[in-house]
Amino acid sequence: MSDALVEELRRALGERGVLVSPADRVRFETGWRYGKGVARCVARPASTAEVAATLQLAARHGARVVAQGANSGLVAASTPDLSGTMLVLSLERLNQTIDLDPHGRTVLVDGGVLLSQLNEALAPHGFWFPVDLGADPQIGGMVATNTGGTRLLKYGDVRHNLLGVEVVLGDGRVLSLLNTLRKNNTGLDAKQLFVGTTGVFGVVTRAVLQVAPVPKQRAVALVACDGGDAVLDLLRAVEAELGDVLSAFEVMSANALGPVFAHQPNLRRPFAELPPYSVLVELSSTLPPATLHLENALEACLGAHLERAGEHVLDVLVGKGEEFWQMRHHISESLRSEGKMLAFDVSVPRSRLPAFTAAVGKLLAEDHPQVRLCDYGHWGDGGTHLNLLWRETDVADSAALVRELQSRIYDLAVRDFAGSYSAEHGVGPHNQAFYDRYTDAQVKALCGVLGQFCDPAGRLGTVRLRGQ
Ligand code: LAC
Ligand code: ZN
Repeated sequence: MSDALVEELRRALGERGVLVSPADRVRFETGWRYGKGVARCVARPASTAEVAATLQLAARHGARVVAQGANSGLVAASTPDLSGTMLVLSLERLNQTIDLDPHGRTVLVDGGVLLSQLNEALAPHGFWFPVDLGADPQIGGMVATNTGGTRLLKYGDVRHNLLGVEVVLGDGRVLSLLNTLRKNNTGLDAKQLFVGTTGVFGVVTRAVLQVAPVPKQRAVALVACDGGDAVLDLLRAVEAELGDVLSAFEVMSANALGPVFAHQPNLRRPFAELPPYSVLVELSSTLPPATLHLENALEACLGAHLERAGEHVLDVLVGKGEEFWQMRHHISESLRSEGKMLAFDVSVPRSRLPAFTAAVGKLLAEDHPQVRLCDYGHWGDGGTHLNLLWRETDVADSAALVRELQSRIYDLAVRDFAGSYSAEHGVGPHNQAFYDRYTDAQVKALCGVLGQFCDPAGRLGTVRLRGQ
């Protein structure tokens, strides 16, 4: 059956620019963790002008569009819905420009450039983009989701490192905000509209990023703690003594870390028995070891802390940074292979992380003892991932259990612990109901006004920031 939109897209983007067959579409239709839909076709523009042409054609045909980067997001925001009428606008061919200004320490980069590709290009010049995570997203997608990652504690999220953007609005208008200045205090910082709003106000085609010098040395330790309070005491000690060079503080419960060794046979258990919490502490610096020896500093700090903390700190291993990071980065995929999984990406004030985690544990032990709590995450910035696992055979109605647990655990985080239902993964169909529940009515109304300007017909994305 001929499709006039597809034909016009082919004329605008060329044969390679449009994918139609189910086999070609499939990788764009399924998200990494959540999200499974059907696309009318996949448009793959290779320039800002082609993105604009794609959105103009979609507007003329009244087609809804979901922009997609590397499709590695975790809230189903980059996949189409099930209607089969949405266009996927993939940025993967918009990946040519990586234009570094080494003295300015900024880079202009196309939205479809992969994080790994950017870092490879920056490395010979001694720079990197320090928003660091296990996945390999595209820069435009990172802007749209305001990616956080494991070194947010030191470098901040994408928002903190973003100087400018170019976006194409819903009807094809191009908005160029390619600011390269660090200081530019001249009214509304309009680029912020497109950060963390998952592409519903516009498609990010280029970005200007601040980059960081690559550290000359890193030192990593794994610290075995007997519980959440001991983790907070450790955090306080390393911040007090080594805060200037602390670059990661990642916490892994025994339930989260255990499965890694089953699924990654090349990795060895660091401790004979996994402690309640293993904490990865990383220091990094551009200073050479002759000026400040990080491993010695880390050993001294943790040695003294071990003495002070008594039985609350069970062991300290310094070194083997690569191996410890591999453990950390394999948690998510290892847990996924264990059975039915429901993931939470929440944050609460740091001081309340132990009490919050205990409250979730109590809720599960009392009402759903067949559900295993595997928690890990970025305690340094108050973020925790609670991945809940169960065997399908142990639960009569998994879908009902998902609904109940989401409602109760998000309520606990947001209402009882003054936290967030999405610490770093952003908003998507996966948590839309909770955006609707917790977002201030005035904020939704404001999004309505902004949406009216940016995407008047409301055809971008699968998330509704404007409310119902
Ligand atoms: C992580 C992802 C799931 O921290 O955010 O591993
Ligand atoms: Zn995370």
